[in-house]
Amino acid sequence: MAPRETLPQASSRLIDRAGVADALHTPAHTEEAWIDVIHRMDEVYADLVQNQQLLEDKNSELEEAQIFIDSVLASMTDVLVVCDLEGRVVRANKAAEAILGGGHRGLEGRALRSIFAPGSALGADALLARLLNDGHIADADAMLLSADGAAVPLSVNCATRFDHLGRLVGFVLIGRPTGELRRAFAALDQAHRKLTKTQAQLVSAEKMAALGQLVAGVAHELNNPISFVFGNLHALKRYAQKLNTFLAACDAARSLPEVREQAETLGIRRIMLDLNPLVDGTLEGATRVSEIVQDLRRFSSSQKEQWESFNLVRVVQTAADWVTKSARSKPQLVVMPTGALEVRSLQRAVHQIVVNLVQNAVDVLAGGRGGRIEIVCGIRDRLATVAVTDTGPGLRPEHLSRVFEPFFTTKPVGEGTGLGLYVSYNLAQELGGRIDVENVDGGGARFTLSFPAEGHEDG
Ligand SMILES: Nc1ncnc2c1ncn2[C@@H]1O[C@H](COP(=O)(O)OP(=O)(O)OP(=O)(O)O)[C@@H](O)[C@H]1O
Ligand SMILES: [Mg+2]
Repeated sequence: MAPRETLPQASSRLIDRAGVADALHTPAHTEEAWIDVIHRMDEVYADLVQNQQLLEDKNSELEEAQIFIDSVLASMTDVLVVCDLEGRVVRANKAAEAILGGGHRGLEGRALRSIFAPGSALGADALLARLLNDGHIADADAMLLSADGAAVPLSVNCATRFDHLGRLVGFVLIGRPTGELRRAFAALDQAHRKLTKTQAQLVSAEKMAALGQLVAGVAHELNNPISFVFGNLHALKRYAQKLNTFLAACDAARSLPEVREQAETLGIRRIMLDLNPLVDGTLEGATRVSEIVQDLRRFSSSQKEQWESFNLVRVVQTAADWVTKSARSKPQLVVMPTGALEVRSLQRAVHQIVVNLVQNAVDVLAGGRGGRIEIVCGIRDRLATVAVTDTGPGLRPEHLSRVFEPFFTTKPVGEGTGLGLYVSYNLAQELGGRIDVENVDGGGARFTLSFPAEGHEDG
């Protein structure tokens, strides 16, 4: 703004009123008139000084407002172009100049048509037509022609502009560059596609893992009855050899005492006593194998095991026998009570859990001599419990919370799958129950299975 000249100070002009009167050598009444005039002049000058002050204040306010508007326009990242009714640029901000070129205020006077790129979805003519029709344009896609000839995509908003008398004088265009956004969107889209693909791969990997887990679980379940059957068959083979030897001896024998002596030496009576339980046990093992296979079939047809009433003590005893009989080390096994305890539950699941718990107990006792496994069954407040306690080393405190995790094992590679307790816990949940673990005083671990003795809502 041009510097303004300051008005001469009124006080410097009104030097000395008496002096003026003297100098004029006028009569008294004329002198009074002069003094009046001088008073008036004095007042006019005072007004002038005040107005000048006001003007200066207003001017500096205007300057500040101008600086403020300029700074706002300059800091806008969106493009702002103000046009008159003929479609000529009246004002543009820095962001517009940066894209369209032309330097500071270089865009002023330029035709709006020249700032749109050829092929822009919204051109100058369409923009004017739509504006005159609707008074505004919201979020329209447009392309501006940059100084280097490239098309710059924008999301454009336009509104008409009026002067202080309310007359339409032009319009304002605001555009947000969408190039970055589009690139980001394209990158996001690509990332999303990648993610979907990876997810699909993960799902199939997950399926494979679940299948692997199932196979490992089945292998784990089959292991006990099969080794039980194997053990029995080896015993039967040994018995068959002894019986053959005995028969040959009978053929060759000349007297009954001789036959008796042979029978005694070969332990034929004990063999005969053991034959039936051996065959029964083998049959039971084979039945269990076939049940597991049936379970698998049922699993694949997603049918569920039947809830049934059974004697808990008998099922626990059979399951524990299976494990201990096929074990190389023979820990002492005690199952309490000896009488029957009727429950309603999933028999095979209970059996499998006890097999797994006793197997673990046998495993930890295998290294040492002897050892004892005590199983206490009970029913209290409609809750059936089976507590398996061993005299092994117990669990390390940091392992107590981890033993039910799938694949958690402290056994050497190739010896344990770490699935026994995981499978057991899931089975316990199927019963509507749980398994708790604790270390007992004097060493050893106790795993307690508890489940509703009278079935739960499913059964
Ligand atoms: N009675 C127990 N005493 C001490 N540690 C135990 C006992 N039972 C289980 N554990 C610990 O819990 C771990 C997990 O047991 P789990 O039955 O799930 O798998 P595993 O026995 O290691 O393998 P698998 O069951 O396939 O033979 C065991 O490796 C062992 O460290
Ligand atoms: Mg185990």
